[in-house]
Amino acid sequence: MKNKSLVSINDYTKDEIIRILDLAESFERQPRQDILKDKVIASLFFEPSTRTRLSFESAAQQLGASVIGFSSAATSSVQKGETLKDTILTVSNYSDLIVMRHSVDGSARWASEVSPVPIINAGDGANQHPTQCLLDLYSIRKTQGTLDNLDIMFVGDLKYGRTVHSLTMALCHFNTRFHLVSPVELKLPSAVKQHIKSAKLQYEQYTELSEVIPKADILYMTRIQRERFPDPIEYEKVKNSYNLTLSMLENARPNLKVLHPLPRVNEINTDVDSSPMAYYFQQAQNGVYVRQALMAAILGRV
Ligand code: CP
Repeated sequence: MKNKSLVSINDYTKDEIIRILDLAESFERQPRQDILKDKVIASLFFEPSTRTRLSFESAAQQLGASVIGFSSAATSSVQKGETLKDTILTVSNYSDLIVMRHSVDGSARWASEVSPVPIINAGDGANQHPTQCLLDLYSIRKTQGTLDNLDIMFVGDLKYGRTVHSLTMALCHFNTRFHLVSPVELKLPSAVKQHIKSAKLQYEQYTELSEVIPKADILYMTRIQRERFPDPIEYEKVKNSYNLTLSMLENARPNLKVLHPLPRVNEINTDVDSSPMAYYFQQAQNGVYVRQALMAAILGRV
């Protein structure tokens, strides 16, 4: 992993994924260490973010690293017409590792091919969000005691939801049973379904949410990704497809946890927040430990 970019979750083997999760456990026990105090992390967010950017920055600072960067393309020289390649080549002069979010699918791969320092993909368009995937896996393992043989239910925008794409691919290592709930227009892309088939695993597709909840160990809710729709009218048709309420969890398995990469809009009612099954805010907290593990591994400090 040392000096290796993380662009897609498929860049890591199952053993490498497990290693990051195990390291994250040790950072959860002791998050403040000075192991990156001579390192500079660049945080380049061309697209909005709350959790990913701030948890990366918190993770880096708790390990003693300095953080530079920008939180919007509007405050960078992209506004003056600078290319992504020139931005990456420039920022690599100032940093040891670049964390980048961008709206274009494939931009992180392109950045990793031109960058002399490792790139961590913090989300590229509707494609991949591998660090969210690692914190999702960490949250699943922590709450279920295992990653193997679980019933995982994905709900919402499975077409444009990059967190779903990354997590589905990673769960193919763990004999998962997939339950895919979405509007017809927002089904999981064929390329991602092909991963499930190649792993010789099963998936079922549904449009209704309630009927599937009793079958699930993890209920992974997602936002309908308004910003990815080419036509706003199409978004209007599906924007209120799902609304999970507390009463809908009455027949859930006792071990069920509700995850969500956040931000949520209206797909989880706030009455769910008080349920012991709600785990989305703890999930966001786990992002700090997983990102500490990842940066420490890539920078060769663990
Ligand atoms: N989960 C996630 O990527 O959230 P942000 O968009 O706030 O970073």
